[in-house]
Parts: sequence; structure tokens; C-alpha cells
Amino acid sequence: MAFLKALTIFVSIFISTCLRGHVTSAQTYHEADAIFNDVIRNASTTVRPMVNQSDTLRVFVTFNLMAVTQVDEVRQELACNAWLNLSWTDELRTWLPEQYGGIKVVHPDPVDIWRARVMVSNSLQDRDIFKDAHAPVFLFSDGSTRWYPGGIFFTSCVMTVTVFPFDSHDCSLLFLSIGFYAEELVFEPVSPEANLRGYSHNGEWELTSTSVSPLQIPVADETFSGFKVTLRLTRRPWFFLLNVVMPIMLLSLLNFMVFVLPNDCGEKVTFGTTILLSQAVYMSVVTNLLPQNSYDGMPLVLVYLFFVLVLCSVAVATSIVVVAFDKKLKCNDDKGLTPEADTVTNNLADVPQSESKDGLLRNRIHPVNSGPALDNVVEEKKPASDVKRAKAKVCLAKAARICCGSNALHLSVFLVLWSVMTALFLLHGVSVAA
Ligand SMILES: *[C@@H]1O[C@H](CO)[C@@H](O)[C@H](O)[C@H]1NC(C)=O
Ligand SMILES: *[C@@H]1O[C@H](CO)[C@@H](O)[C@H](O)[C@H]1NC(C)=O
Ligand SMILES: *[C@@H]1O[C@H](CO)[C@@H](O)[C@H](O)[C@H]1NC(C)=O
Repeated sequence: MAFLKALTIFVSIFISTCLRGHVTSAQTYHEADAIFNDVIRNASTTVRPMVNQSDTLRVFVTFNLMAVTQVDEVRQELACNAWLNLSWTDELRTWLPEQYGGIKVVHPDPVDIWRARVMVSNSLQDRDIFKDAHAPVFLFSDGSTRWYPGGIFFTSCVMTVTVFPFDSHDCSLLFLSIGFYAEELVFEPVSPEANLRGYSHNGEWELTSTSVSPLQIPVADETFSGFKVTLRLTRRPWFFLLNVVMPIMLLSLLNFMVFVLPNDCGEKVTFGTTILLSQAVYMSVVTNLLPQNSYDGMPLVLVYLFFVLVLCSVAVATSIVVVAFDKKLKCNDDKGLTPEADTVTNNLADVPQSESKDGLLRNRIHPVNSGPALDNVVEEKKPASDVKRAKAKVCLAKAARICCGSNALHLSVFLVLWSVMTALFLLHGVSVAA
């Protein structure tokens, strides 16, 4: 084991020196090993590596983001793949390269040196992420040390989805030092932004901006140092709009087509109900995508879809009523009524009932003729009570006719309501996105 370890160290030194272009024939295994014995293991791993312990150790940080792997609005968590560049000066582990064959950098095990350990305080998994003792350490002869620990960070992130799918979220990762006060150790971000050189894009979320800021966290009468990384993520809305919102819009438009079907077509109600069902299925897709949260305000898209669903239900109900009235009128016509009522309805109904099977056509012809003909009949022939009954019937028949006859009217009313709602929804979305 010891041999293996030594071999690994040797190989790593060899490779790193090769890469840094410091290859000289003078560097031998024994010289590298000597650095480990004389310098690295000759200082404490727990005491801060400073000669003057009243000084504050400054640790420089860079946050390198590789990918945003998961943004889960339902569970309110963010997963990202990142690594840190922590660098500080180790005053106790320095050597003169001339005394060790010109070796300027070695790669000790992180556990063999003092390191600035940090924890992720809003982590949803292990908070002490840097137990991983195998992240590479670069120790230079002047004592400057670089440590590159990294991993997949699972952090909690509060996401408000009221303007879904036009939403943006600020998700933060809070890093805190373990075991040192702010007077003993401070983190200093090298740059106010995360390093995105290795970042690979996320298909659903756009990374609009990043920030890295130092943090002093007072806990009781003590202060801890740390840093905060904030990622601003904006949703790319097109996937959701094309796959969920558009189909629901189209289905609702299709639903209003019930008013184009003739009233005596038996499929009228079936058609409306089927479309309503498919809309309900889409609604459940949407609700699964969103957090079950009624506290921060309902997502706008849910409110919109709910109103569309209501509109379509009303449309189906209306078409049921239309069909029912239509059937009733037909029955009356077929059976024949009492003589007086018959005259009334005949005069009233005129020809179209029997002639035309098309609801729209019949209704269009109808109202023009009915009024005057009816008045003449009633007033000339009938006694008072009969006149009343006849008038009531006429009213009923008129109502029914308006109801049946206004398919075009219904269609336009529903279309107007739908357009207003859709326009409001889209305008709001655009204003939020802008
Ligand atoms: C170990 O460190 C002490 C003081 O830090 C120093 O006096 C001593 O020479 C070091 N040992 C070696 C082998 O360098
Ligand atoms: C140690 O650092 C403190 C604060 O920077 C300073 O006041 C003190 O003189 C230093 N002591 C030595 C021995 O250098
Ligand atoms: C890590 O940070 C130090 C100090 O800012 C810098 O000199 C070094 O190049 C960085 N290393 C990498 C791999 O980014």
C-alpha cells in the first residue's frame, strides 16, 4: 500500500511537472519524497498555517459552474455540477526548490495538509461536501496552495411560479467555513461572477446571470465567514407553450365548434363532451408540472386554463339546452297541438320547421315572419283565457327559437370571451418576460 501511494505521488508529480514544463533531470523520487517528509508532514493539519496566529487567513474563491442539472419546482430544489477553486498561502509548508532538485510543486493528499473546509448550509444532502479527500491539491514551493474540490450540489431554492411559464428564479448556494470565526478566516471571491468557462447549457433553463459575494453570518455573538453564489435562471417557455398551452387553446376552439353542428345532428353533445374530457386530461399534465402551492398565489397559467375549461363547460351546457329545446319544438310539430295552439304555432312557426332540417337556416328565416301573423290570429279569434295561454305558448316558442336560433350568436360570444382571456394571458406573459 505504501509503495502504491508513493508510486501514485511520484507519477502525479512527474505528470504535473511535465505539464508545467519543469522537467529537469535533477528531479528524483527521493527529492520529492523528502519534501513530503520534511515539509508537508512536519506541520499541523488543524492549526491554521500561519506564523502569526493573530492574523486573518484569506482564502480566495472562484466558483466554477459546469452545468445546472436539475431544477425541480415541485420539490423546490436545484442541482448543479460545480467545483471550487480555493487558494491560500500556507506559510509553514514552504521549501527552497534548489534544495530539492528544483521541484516547485507537489500534490499532497488533502488530508495531509491544512485546508479551508467549507460546508453548503442550504444543502439538501450532505452538508460537508468536501469530505472527498481525493480532490487535487497543488502546493507550490512558496506556500501557495490551490485546492479544487467539487461535486453535485443539491440545494433548496424557493421558486414562486405565479408567472409560470414566464418565470425566473434566483437560486443561491451558501458556503460557510467550518470551525473558524470570521476573524480567523475569511473567504474572498476573486471575481463577482461565477466562472462559466466550462458551462454547458440547459435546454429548459437559461442562466441569465450569476454572482458570487462574500458573506458574514452572525450567529449569537460570533461571526462566521462564507460566500454566497447566486444563479439567476429563466425558463425557456416555448416547450411548455407548444406542448401544453397551445393544445388546450386549440381544443377549446374546437369545443366552440359545437355551435356549428346542426341541432338535430345527434353528435352535437357527444362532440362537446369528448373535447371537454381531453382538456381535463391536459389540465392534469399541467398540475403535475407545478408545485401544489396555493400560498404564493396561483400560477397564472392555471387560472387561465381553469377559465378556459369553465368556458368550454358552459359551451357544452348551452349546446345541450339548445338541442333539448330543438327536440321539444320538433315533437310539438310532429304530434300536432290543440286547434288554437296549432294555429298559433303554425302561424308563428311558419314554414321553416317542416321544410328545413338545418337549424341555422331555419332560425335565420324565422323571426322575420312570426310577429305580425301571431298578433292577428290571437286578437281576432280567441276568448281572453285562451289568448293568455296562447300568448304564453308563443313566448315560450319564441324563447326556444331564440335559443336554438342563436348558434351563430353563441359561437361569437364564446369566441370573444376566449380571445379576451387569451390576449390577457399572453400580454401578461410578454410583459413579465420582457
Ligand atoms: C519541522 O518543523 C520545525 C519547525 O516548524 C523545524 O524546526 C524543523 O527543522 C522541521 N523539520 C524538518 C525535517 O524540516
Ligand atoms: C501578529 O499580527 C497582529 C495583527 O496583525 C500584529 O498586531 C502583531 O504585531 C503580529 N505579531 C507578530 C509577532 O508579528
Ligand atoms: C485558482 O485561483 C487562483 C487564484 O485566484 C488562480 O491563480 C488559479 O489560476 C486558479 N486555478 C484554476 C484552475 O482556475
